[in-house]
Amino acid sequence: MLVILKRDNEEISREAAQLVAGAVRKKPALTLGLATGGTMTGVYKHLVQFHKQGLLDFSQVVTFNLDEYLGLAATHPQSFHYFMHEHFFQHVNVDPRNIHIPDGTVRGNFEQYCATYEDAIRKAGGIDLQILGIGRNGHIGFNEPTSSLGSRTRLKVLSQETIDDNAKFFAPSEESPRCAITMGIGTILEAKKIILLATGAAKATAVAKSIEGPIASAVSASALQLHPEVTFIVDEQAASQLTQRDYYRRVLEMTALLTPERMS
Ligand code: F6R
Repeated sequence: MLVILKRDNEEISREAAQLVAGAVRKKPALTLGLATGGTMTGVYKHLVQFHKQGLLDFSQVVTFNLDEYLGLAATHPQSFHYFMHEHFFQHVNVDPRNIHIPDGTVRGNFEQYCATYEDAIRKAGGIDLQILGIGRNGHIGFNEPTSSLGSRTRLKVLSQETIDDNAKFFAPSEESPRCAITMGIGTILEAKKIILLATGAAKATAVAKSIEGPIASAVSASALQLHPEVTFIVDEQAASQLTQRDYYRRVLEMTALLTPERMS
């Protein structure tokens, strides 16, 4: 596990975008796992900039988003389809046929739908690089506390904390979603490389538990400790409860010196 400590959201976003850009340049037909949410907007901003400057070509990239709210159509401004289009897809040259986002309007046989999503990931050769944010409760995707660490893509009931966090984005007259379709923790752990970004004091407890706590279903992101190629990129506030910050800095320096390919 690598822990990269940065000053603020801007530095985190730039670092993550550079890692994604490096991965796309190394493998133009990269399969990229994507997340939404406030933490991600800066990353997409930088990736869009690289593309507009002619420095990054997404024409062969295949994308899979982690999750979508159940009941929201792609046209709903709070849907993750809408978010991805607004912040990323409409500005870059990802082939629309290569974009995969769970369908929030699916009805009936959820299991079958979710198995099809998993199948599509497998057929694409698996996810090469997965980007993650983290919830205040330690969720990744919408794998809420007590999600099975082996879970696959499925329908998931949102925790009250997540519902409360999201309520501010919906009109007072509108009920915010209670469920989502999300990749499972088992699905996420199969990605070849994972980057998790966290910013702000509200994430400090979740970050500390995920990196330094025991692996537990109560903190979904702690399952990332099982992954051989995971990088946490964390700003000062989100890192404030980590006890081994000096050690992470030394590890990073030595890694850059001895195995620079691990850093790109
Ligand atoms: C979104 C997702 C979630 C978010 C997390 C953090 O696709 O999978 O796990 O990454 O809720 O959201 P923000 O960045 O808005 O704090």
